[in-house]
Amino acid sequence: MVEENKNDRNNKNHKSCKRKKNNNEKKIERPEEPAACTAQQQPPKKKNRKEVAIFGNYRNYYGYRVGQDLEEDPRLKVMKREWFEGKDSLDIGCNSGLLTIAIARKFGCKSIFGVDIDGARIEDAHWTLRKVVNARMHNVPSKIPKSVDAKVVNGAAESLTEGKRDNDGDSPLLVEKDLFKIVSFQKGNFVQNWRPPANTYYQTILCLSVTKWIHLNWGDDGLITLFRRAWTLLQPGGVFILEPQPWSSYYNNRLVSETASANYKNIQIPPEDFQDVLLDKVGFRMVENLTSGLSGTKSGFDRPILAFWK
Ligand SMILES: C[S@@+](CC[C@H](N)C(=O)[O-])C[C@H]1O[C@@H](n2cnc3c(N)ncnc32)[C@H](O)[C@@H]1O
Repeated sequence: MVEENKNDRNNKNHKSCKRKKNNNEKKIERPEEPAACTAQQQPPKKKNRKEVAIFGNYRNYYGYRVGQDLEEDPRLKVMKREWFEGKDSLDIGCNSGLLTIAIARKFGCKSIFGVDIDGARIEDAHWTLRKVVNARMHNVPSKIPKSVDAKVVNGAAESLTEGKRDNDGDSPLLVEKDLFKIVSFQKGNFVQNWRPPANTYYQTILCLSVTKWIHLNWGDDGLITLFRRAWTLLQPGGVFILEPQPWSSYYNNRLVSETASANYKNIQIPPEDFQDVLLDKVGFRMVENLTSGLSGTKSGFDRPILAFWK
């Protein structure tokens, strides 16, 4: 089970983050720690020897997120063609690249670049891209292992080719060859060492379900770095698409590492303040809330999606 999903659901009972103003001092509400349950006293338990995804770098993320009966990630429904068609885009925290590839083909990106801190997820993304391209070029059903993620890959391959045919009637061969030129992936930490090629600016930047992990690992400073770097890398008029996880979901991930635990206690910018920070401090000029267009979202992943214009 993906922790993030489970946690979001479990935390419905926890108090959500609220701000109390007391003599200009901001207090972020945090559920009380159970006795003898701090990172120092009790290190994170390894459940069934599963890897702990300290960056939210879950293997098989889309298997859980998109679900058994959905061919398409519901977030695609709120994305607008004009943000991607013929445009250069960046996907921060792309995981195994399913959504990155689906966006490239559904909306006809000029280019889309996925960056993720976990090299294993980037390898998965390259594998996914090859699988989608090969399946369509040879016009045979791809022999992908029977897993939920594989079902999503097959669905992506199908809808991608159909999307392109609908748009301009290009042959599937041409379409899939192009996909290698359009989509690329690279390992990198967006808030530390990753840099795009010199003089590269994007018209659209995606940051979906990543803020909690940057917040827990690099605190408020990391979050502000994320927002400022996204703004800097956007062309004027460009759009930053943000899907923040709610404060209530931070609680169960706070023990993934001692760093996360320490940062959790010190966070002063709750997700409900992100919009104000992006508009008033970072410099975005306008916001549109896209959440109402979402439907078919799996329980535990019902999060707001906001678009900010530079
Ligand atoms: C929960 S997944 C979300 C995946 C994808 N954006 C989506 O919503 O479908 C979060 C991803 O962000 C990546 N990540 C976390 N911190 C990062 C950082 N500092 N730089 C780049 N990627 C990061 C993780 O490795 C993980 O794959």
